[in-house]
Amino acid sequence: DWQYSLRPRRLSEYIGQDKAKENLSIFIQAALSRGEALDHVLLYGPPGLGKTTLAGIIANELGVNFRQTSGPAIERQGDLAALLTNLQEHDVLFIDEIHRLSRSVEEVLYSAMEDFSLDIIIGKGPSARSIRLDIAPFTLIGATTKAGALAAPLRDRFGVISRLEYYSPDALVHIIKRAAEILDISIEDQGAREIARRSRGTPRIANRLLKRVRDVAQVEGDGRITDAVADRALRMLEIDQAGLDHTDRRMLDTMIRKFAGGPVGLDTLAAAISESTDTIEDVYEPFLMQLGFISRTPRGRVVTRFGYEHMGLHYPE
Ligand code: ADE
Repeated sequence: DWQYSLRPRRLSEYIGQDKAKENLSIFIQAALSRGEALDHVLLYGPPGLGKTTLAGIIANELGVNFRQTSGPAIERQGDLAALLTNLQEHDVLFIDEIHRLSRSVEEVLYSAMEDFSLDIIIGKGPSARSIRLDIAPFTLIGATTKAGALAAPLRDRFGVISRLEYYSPDALVHIIKRAAEILDISIEDQGAREIARRSRGTPRIANRLLKRVRDVAQVEGDGRITDAVADRALRMLEIDQAGLDHTDRRMLDTMIRKFAGGPVGLDTLAAAISESTDTIEDVYEPFLMQLGFISRTPRGRVVTRFGYEHMGLHYPE
C-alpha cells in the first residue's frame, strides 16, 4: 500500500532524527563487522515519528528478517515462545507498544533478551516441569510512546535507547517533497512549507495532510499545490496556524473555560473532553507542551500565557 511504498528502506533515505540515525549507523556497522546480533534497541517518542519505519530500516541494513508484532498482540507466554523459536540468527523482532506487554510475557522476554534462552513450564500441577530452550541470537527492537511506562528490568535490558524528536519544519518539507515525488503530486516549495508548518512535527500527519491538500488542489484548482491551496485545505480541515486540530483547541478551551486554566488532573480532563487518558498523554499533551501552550505541575496541567494568547484570550494575572 502507499504507506508502505512511502517508507524509506535505507538509513540514507531516512530524513531527520540525525542523532538517532548517526548513533544507530555506528552500532549497526560495528555489529556487522563483529558478525554479531545488534544489541536490543528501544525507540521511544510520540506516535507517527517513524519508529516502525526505523526498525524496518535497521533490519534491512543488517540484512536480516524483520518480524513485527505488538505488546497487546502477545497474550500468552506461548505466543512469545512461538515467535522467538522461529527467529533466525540475528533477526530483528519488533514489538510495538512494548509497554503493553503483560507481566508474565515480560518475564519470558527477560531471559530471551539476556541469554537467548527460554524458560517455559510444560504441563500443570505436580507433573509440571520447566524446560530451557536455546534460541538464535536476535535483536529486539521495542517501541513505546513513553519510556517511563516500561518496567525498569525491561528497560535495563536494552543496550541502545533512542528518543525520537518532533521533526523540524525543514525536515518535514523534505519528507513532503519526497512523498509528493513518489505519489506524483505537483507541489510548490511554499505549498510544502505550509503543510510542514502545520503538521505538528509529525511525518505521518504531514503525509496525510499532503493527500488531503492534493484533493482540494484537484477539485478546486489545477492540481498543483501552492501555499494558497494548502492554506485553504488546512482551514477546511480545521487545522490552525500552529498546526492545532479541533481536539487540541477543544482541550485548551475546556481547560480555560471549565477549569479556569488549571491545574486540572488527567482523568478529569479526559472525561471533560471525551478522549482517553492515553490519547491525551501520548498525542495531545506532548505537542501542546512542546509549543509551550500547556505545562505540567504536581497538581495537574495548566494553560500557559502562550496557550491563552493562541486561543485569543486574555491571560489572567
Ligand atoms: N516518511 C515518513 N517519515 C520519513 C522520514 N523520516 N524520512 C523519509 N521519509 C519519511
